[in-house]
Amino acid sequence: MNILILGSGGREHSLAWAIKQNPKCDRLIVAPGNAGIAMLAECADLDIMDAAEVVGFCEEHAIDFVVIGPEAPLAAGVADATRAAGLLTFGPSAAAARLEASKAFTKEICDACAAPTAGYARFTDAQAARVHVQTHGAPLVIKADGLAAGKGVIMGMTEAEALAGIDEILGGAFGSAGAEVVIEEFMEGEEASLFILCDGADCLPIGTAQDHKRVGDGDTGPNTGGMGAYSPAPVLTDAILERAMAEIVRPTVAEMAKRGTPFEGVLYAGLMIRDGQARLVEYNVRFGDPECQVLMMRLGAQVLDLLLACARRELAGAQVNWADDHALTVVMAAQGYAGSYDKGSAINGLDLLREDSFHMTFHAGTGMRDGQIIATGGRVLNITARGASLAQARARAYDLVAQVDWPQGFCRHDIGWRAL
Ligand code: AMP
Ligand code: GLY
Repeated sequence: MNILILGSGGREHSLAWAIKQNPKCDRLIVAPGNAGIAMLAECADLDIMDAAEVVGFCEEHAIDFVVIGPEAPLAAGVADATRAAGLLTFGPSAAAARLEASKAFTKEICDACAAPTAGYARFTDAQAARVHVQTHGAPLVIKADGLAAGKGVIMGMTEAEALAGIDEILGGAFGSAGAEVVIEEFMEGEEASLFILCDGADCLPIGTAQDHKRVGDGDTGPNTGGMGAYSPAPVLTDAILERAMAEIVRPTVAEMAKRGTPFEGVLYAGLMIRDGQARLVEYNVRFGDPECQVLMMRLGAQVLDLLLACARRELAGAQVNWADDHALTVVMAAQGYAGSYDKGSAINGLDLLREDSFHMTFHAGTGMRDGQIIATGGRVLNITARGASLAQARARAYDLVAQVDWPQGFCRHDIGWRAL
């Protein structure tokens, strides 16, 4: 079968790597892709936000299956367009993608299905929002309603920070994504992520992970998209997972179906765990990045069968074959990230890195210049390894990191500390 993956990061590289190993995959195209992806798939220069262009490309190249990686094309309705054109598609409709694209919508769904989550209030009026903060007191979490590239969440640990967050969001710092502000109760606990395939009716959990959001060792410095991740997340025990499925995930999926907007794709549930119970922090409607990289490392070629079962609405008969293994990924980023950083520095030594079912270097932000791999983004490489224990996976990953010759790059040295 001919498969098209939309996206250009480490998430899409790992999806391509796993899918390519499945004998059902004849031809694999990734749009737009990156320098690492180009080593295992064809890359196509395509505007993935342009639904008509994506549909036209699929028709021209006889694509049988479309896998949509990032949230932006999902929220823009690209999956609606490919399904309408009769293409087998992995990824939710724009209506279902509101579970990520609108935090207020997600709260509404949680209310409707009684899913445990932080208490909240929503405002478009700054004065009313300020009064709410003054009445409730810090700590509070201040969120822009819409998609803000991971930057729309402000921790109001003091009242002053909370008030400043309101001014920032309603003052237009996030454009239309900040037309409404959601103010949440601050939840304590340990965070972990649960990934569930949903075909509109049935759900299949396909793994857990934890990431490291802060840029520096010891969880210090500004927030990032994630500096590393590992799977499984030991804090998400089977009992907590089953309860989260029963109290949060299945009720959400049922509520979405009831509203006529069934969720089809991967639901990423960010959970806060405390005293044996999980509460929902947020939903994303796509795989996490870099969480996807560790999931793909563990699932391997069966991923294609699972994504196909999901897209064909046949999840009821699907199951995951688990190896009793662990995976860990270390993000190498350009110096300066999460602030401003230079692009274009040369990365050497990658061709010498071991690549097999236990070791893989996924590219997140790379390009090719005169035959040389260069950094083109903030998060650049995801050095990923698998092992019989988390400690073994971590040792293997850092062993690879040490072989990368990239003076302008850096990484955290303590990925996995919480679990080890
Ligand atoms: P979100 O984009 O909603 O996941 O928020 C980003 C991060 O902010 C989460 O991963 C949490 O670490 C933190 N966060 C969000 N909401 C809350 C909350 N209500 N209580 C505590 N931490 C939160
Ligand atoms: N690593 C967090 C995310 O993908 O949203």
